[in-house]
Amino acid sequence: MGAPQKNQKQLPLRPAGAETVEALLLWYGSERRHLPWRYGPRKKADPYRVWLSEIMLQQTTVKAVIPYFQKFVARWPTVAALASAQLEEVLQQWAGLGYYSRARNLKACADAVVRDFGGVFPRTEKQLLELPGIGPYTAAAIAAIAFGEKATPVDGNIERVVSRLFAVQQALPASKPEIRRLAATLTPTRRAGDFAQAMMDLGAEICTPKNPSCLVCPLQQDCAANARGLAELLPVKAPKMARPSRYGVAFLVQRDDGAVLLRQRPEAGLLGGMLEVPSTHWGDAPPPKKEALRAAPVTTSWMPVPGTVVHVFTHFRLELVVYRALVPVDASFTLWAEQERCRWVQRRDLHAQALPSVMKKVIAHGMNAA
Ligand code: ADE
Ligand code: SF4
Repeated sequence: MGAPQKNQKQLPLRPAGAETVEALLLWYGSERRHLPWRYGPRKKADPYRVWLSEIMLQQTTVKAVIPYFQKFVARWPTVAALASAQLEEVLQQWAGLGYYSRARNLKACADAVVRDFGGVFPRTEKQLLELPGIGPYTAAAIAAIAFGEKATPVDGNIERVVSRLFAVQQALPASKPEIRRLAATLTPTRRAGDFAQAMMDLGAEICTPKNPSCLVCPLQQDCAANARGLAELLPVKAPKMARPSRYGVAFLVQRDDGAVLLRQRPEAGLLGGMLEVPSTHWGDAPPPKKEALRAAPVTTSWMPVPGTVVHVFTHFRLELVVYRALVPVDASFTLWAEQERCRWVQRRDLHAQALPSVMKKVIAHGMNAA
């Protein structure tokens, strides 16, 4: 026998298909992560718990979500219980998970399920999509995991596993439709929820972004990337756009009893509904001092803090200069406009607030300058 031909060597033993799914589900049966919203393979899940976990997991890691999930289901064991809770209380319990609009939508969704569906979650992707806070990914995840509907949620983990299994060479994000199509071709009619979660777990534990553990992977024989030695090179990502920079001045006002002045951001847009240290508009250039001071929340003597706070958001880099002021408790000054969005928060209560990390940096920077 001669040496194997090059293109033979590059093919997996078998292309990913029904047997791949079988191998994956077998692996899931013994190696899956034990998470509090899961009921084990082939078990019926509680749609309320699945929905709650999926909303919490939207922009947060599994590890960070677990204690919040436990706290929520202990306090509100059903969707009806959550619907009859006060929004304020739900937001309080959510503090620390970030993105308050998600908590508002959570409550709005619980209300809608009780009002429009008699407290029973609808089971199809289409109906789920109509509910607040449920986008295409979440609708597919709930339909598959809670109801066993043949739906294909594709998150970052699944995207990576599928790109590798089929050696997708096109770069993300252009390749998303093709990856979704390929993922759907693998989705089994039965156990679609176990399949989705097995792909997530494989991506989290075996088919990791760096150093994937191909040697112990249950799909190794079916994996085109492994056969071609491409695993770690996939998925290809389009070069990141250079991020524009934005600039502003943040005003850290401390009262002499230690309280800090915070302002609630508008519901819509970046960091919607979260608290912030009041600041100027974030523009393309650092605002001149005189102009910046017009946006100051109180008229007082401001001390610029040396240095800047830099924070990188998805679409831009933000550089803030911090001005600091101390004011007496018996406020003889007046807050300017937007007073109703402002509140004093004691330093010891700051950790329980909906403070985005950029604002935590601003507060730390301003206070450390004391
Ligand atoms: N991320 C989003 N949904 C998940 C789930 N059901 N299990 C694990 N990770 C997840
Ligand atoms: Fe991922 Fe490697 Fe398994 Fe392929 S063989 S699915 S690249 S871990």
